[in-house]
Amino acid sequence: VTAFDRADSHAHLAAHARRAAAFDMRQMFARDPGRAERFAFELPGLLVDLSKQRIDDDTLRSLIALAHETGVTGRRDAMFRGERINATEGRAVLHTALRAPAGSVVTVDGRNVVPDVQAVLGRMAAFSNRVRDGDWRGYDGRPIAHVVNIGIGGSDLGPYMACEALVPYGHPRLSMHFVSNVDATHMVETLKRVDPATTLFVVASKTFTTQETLANARTAREWFLGRAPDSGAIARHFVAVSTNEVEVSAFGIDPENMFGFWDWVGGRYSLWSAIGLPLMLHIGPRAFAEFLAGGHAMDRHFRDAPPESNVPMLMGMIGVWNANFLGCDSVAVIPYDQYLHRLPAYLQQLDMESNGKGTTLAGGRPGYHTGPVIWGEPGTNGQHAFFQLLHQGTRIVPVDFIVPIHSHHRVGEHHAMLLANCFAQSQALMFGKTEAEVRAELAAQGLPGDAAAALLPHKVFPGNRPSTTLLFDRLTPHALGMLIALYEHKVFVQGAVWGVNSFDQWGVELGKQLAGRILADLRAGEPAAGHDASTARLLARAIGARPGG
Ligand code: F6P
Repeated sequence: VTAFDRADSHAHLAAHARRAAAFDMRQMFARDPGRAERFAFELPGLLVDLSKQRIDDDTLRSLIALAHETGVTGRRDAMFRGERINATEGRAVLHTALRAPAGSVVTVDGRNVVPDVQAVLGRMAAFSNRVRDGDWRGYDGRPIAHVVNIGIGGSDLGPYMACEALVPYGHPRLSMHFVSNVDATHMVETLKRVDPATTLFVVASKTFTTQETLANARTAREWFLGRAPDSGAIARHFVAVSTNEVEVSAFGIDPENMFGFWDWVGGRYSLWSAIGLPLMLHIGPRAFAEFLAGGHAMDRHFRDAPPESNVPMLMGMIGVWNANFLGCDSVAVIPYDQYLHRLPAYLQQLDMESNGKGTTLAGGRPGYHTGPVIWGEPGTNGQHAFFQLLHQGTRIVPVDFIVPIHSHHRVGEHHAMLLANCFAQSQALMFGKTEAEVRAELAAQGLPGDAAAALLPHKVFPGNRPSTTLLFDRLTPHALGMLIALYEHKVFVQGAVWGVNSFDQWGVELGKQLAGRILADLRAGEPAAGHDASTARLLARAIGARPGG
């Protein structure tokens, strides 16, 4: 039994949820003119509108009580203090130190880590400036024109998402490429688009033991050596980002060309560390510093704001409300900004690898659901694909709408159309369309009675479906930093409530182990004994042998 089960507010919320089944947001808005104001929260450059969630004042009060009873704030403070809250790996969790201003003090085992962070940032900045200024040159004397990041998971999704998000700030000479998949297609198709003499490979791996990344890095090196004048050129074309200097050297990258980070940076929280090198190369050290400052601004808010107005806390707790009390299994994240097209994939790892856990910190099984399924696509595209289910399906899927007020592109009415669609979707989810409204509409269209009656139920929208809208001024490095840190802390809050360790990922290990065995079979050209019949058959088929033969 966890604090979540035991909490008085849990029982209260469960009872409240039975009443909430009758909550009708249309009526709540009609009856309460202050609702939009009371449930909207302003941070510099960001409005978070929670008023279209199925909550009332009592819900929020009880959710805040639940946060207190499950020790969220204590765990938050322990994280900021650098305690080893990642218990299963015995590590501190200090991505917040990566964006702490120079001169602050964050200690791990009595050592202030901020100077270490600043030193790496300084090396990254010096290197980025050389590449961006054209001073760092490839083997034939031309400046770098392509950056190929080779990494996977947190060593890919963060820098990829952020580089795409901040294209308007990108260096005009540099094209950014990201290779993650061990499918050779990914590397082959990327290498077709780059010139070895002007390409910088960034091999990004916290552990430097990840199978996919090392296979891709080896292939890239082979390709490069087949074209470069000599192996000495490696030093101008390959850099590494890792915590593992031994493996980086073993791979053949000079530690001089390595940018380090620390075990207290989780992979999916590492964009702010040297893993962000491609982003710094892309947007430059100054804009990267603004990105960090945006993250830090959100850290200060999360650390200092009272729970009643603490946005990550409220978003996290409303997520708990939707997941555990209203029975929602997934959350759709829909950025109405094409530059944020990788944000859903990024948040999938952040949230699902953090809170997709079936064991509590104490080692028991939680008697409730933990992390929801996170998914999404940019709007308006999603509207023409899966929004049908969101509006009329039998499942309730809470939606996060994320949209900037200003676009980077003033082209015709595009942005007004984008904003209109975004606001309309949350309105439609909330309002729905009643039978009476549909009937009146059909009558106005002059549809004959029978046909109208047959069509009517298909055109009704139940409404009352929850969403949050995050409305920010413009997609700047600072705004992106705030947004990402907001989601990190939301995930943190939920992990704390559910009593799970949001910072390990043992669930990815089994597949890695089994893939090792199966790869050995593929190499040997025959399945070893001991596989289940299905796997043995698949293997046999893939190898070209007949099952049992
Ligand atoms: O497979 C899970 C994982 O460990 C992620 O948590 C991590 O972001 C990714 O693999 C890549 O790991 P590395 O940076 O060590 O190559």
